[in-house]
Amino acid sequence: MLRVSRLCAAHGAVQAVREVDIEVVRGTLVALIGSNGAGKTTTLNTIAGLHKPSGGTVTVDGRDITGWACHKVVRSGVALVAEGRRVAPPLTVLENLELSAYSGRATKAQQAEQLTEVFDLFPRLADRRGQLAASMSGGEQQMLAFGRALMTRPKVLLLDEPSMGLAPSIVDVLFQTIETLHTAGATILLVEQNAELALAVSQRVYVMQRGRIVTDGTADAVRGRAEVMSALFG
Ligand SMILES: Nc1ncnc2c1ncn2[C@@H]1O[C@H](COP(=O)(O)OP(=O)(O)O)[C@@H](O)[C@H]1O
Ligand SMILES: [Mg+2]
Repeated sequence: MLRVSRLCAAHGAVQAVREVDIEVVRGTLVALIGSNGAGKTTTLNTIAGLHKPSGGTVTVDGRDITGWACHKVVRSGVALVAEGRRVAPPLTVLENLELSAYSGRATKAQQAEQLTEVFDLFPRLADRRGQLAASMSGGEQQMLAFGRALMTRPKVLLLDEPSMGLAPSIVDVLFQTIETLHTAGATILLVEQNAELALAVSQRVYVMQRGRIVTDGTADAVRGRAEVMSALFG
C-alpha cells in the first residue's frame, strides 16, 4: 500500500503541493484528478523521488521512502510513467525495456518473465522490438513508457496523464491495458485530466485544486459534487 501523508512540495515560491493525503490500498486503482496546474504532476514526481518534498511522508507497505532518490524509489517498488512519456529515443524498444529492468528489483529470471508479460500486454512492442524508440508514434512511445515501468516489477504504478496528446483509439487501448493490469491485481495511482475517463476506471478518486485535495471518495460519490465541478472547471 502507498500512503502519502501531509505531503508538501514547492517550485521556488510556488507551493505546488499542500499537505496532501492519499492512500492507495493494494490492488486498487485510484485516480487523482484536477485542472491544469493543480499540482498533480508535482505530487507524483515527489512520490517518485524526482522532486524533493518540503514536508510530509511517503510510505510503501509501511516503509518510509520520503525524499529518497528516484533510483532507490524504483527499487522500493514504485514506478512512474512520467508525463510526456520519457523513453530513450536512440535505443531500440528492447534496449529501452532491458535498461529499465536493470534499474528495478527483478532478478534475471524475473526480467525475462517480465519481458514476456510486457510483450503479451503490448503485442505492438513485440513486433517492433528492434526498432528505435525515436521512430515510433506517440501512442507506441506511451506503450513503451508503460512497458519500461512494468519491467521494474512495481508494487505501485504511478501513471501521469497517459492519454495526453494521443488519438482516442490509442487512448482506448491504453485504458484497456490499465484495466487489464488492475484486474490482474496491480496497484495504480492514475493522474488524469480527463475526469470522465478517470472516474470510469477507478475505485477511488481524489480531486486536487491549487495544491490541495478538496474532496475524495468513490467515483460515484465524487461525481457531480460541487467541489469537483469547481476544481475541474472553476
Ligand atoms: N518546474 C517548475 N518550475 C516552476 N513552477 C512549476 C514547475 N512545475 C510546475 N510548476 C507550478 O506548480 C504548480 C503545479 O504544477 P503541476 O504539478 O505541473 O500541475 P498539474 O500536473 O496538475 O498540471 C503550477 O502552478 C505550476 O505552474
Ligand atoms: Mg501534470
